[in-house]
Amino acid sequence: MTNIIIRPAKESDAERIFEIHRNAILNIEDYLYSQELKQAWAPENSKRAEQIITLEQYYTVVALIDKKVIGFGSIIENNLKLLYVDPDFQKRGVATKILKHLEEKLTKPIESKVSKNAVEFYHKHGYKIRSKATVMFKNKSIDTFLAWKS
Ligand SMILES: CC(C)(COP(=O)(O)OP(=O)(O)OC[C@H]1O[C@@H](n2cnc3c(N)ncnc32)[C@H](O)[C@@H]1OP(=O)(O)O)[C@@H](O)C(=O)NCCC(=O)NCCS
Repeated sequence: MTNIIIRPAKESDAERIFEIHRNAILNIEDYLYSQELKQAWAPENSKRAEQIITLEQYYTVVALIDKKVIGFGSIIENNLKLLYVDPDFQKRGVATKILKHLEEKLTKPIESKVSKNAVEFYHKHGYKIRSKATVMFKNKSIDTFLAWKS
């Protein structure tokens, strides 16, 4: 089994976090989210990555395989905020390892807005899917679901 290391994100990870964030969104199947929605949702530069690394209210970690950053996850105010894995490294347990690490930092109940493609993943990890929740990116509304673990 591949050795996946989790460590806190550093400022030097910003560019790679941005790349993973953008590629993971653009790689979601078109039947779940249209190209137009994905283009609005995907970050265009590393500003968001820099925020989640440097702002005090975030706790952000990266996952590494063979010293390469291949995923990241972030929490803010007891909410799971972001969880993204490089498309080339998905379905190998990377998100599971990040999620388990972040859950240890959170107090239950845990809440997260999750995208359609991630519903099955959260369900497998004991989350109940509560209701639809819309998030806005560049005036486009993206349908997500509120996931909840008690
Ligand atoms: C959702 C995501 C984070 C999962 O990452 P991952 O590293 O591939 O997940 P894991 O390998 O840890 O998967 C764990 C389990 O969930 C399942 N799973 C993961 N993605 C799935 C999918 N798209 N559909 C169905 N099951 C999925 C796996 O099969 C695995 O189950 P198993 O252990 O029974 O085989 C990743 O697909 C991703 O980054 N997607 C795009 C971005 C995104 O939607 N992020 C979440 C925002 S809320």
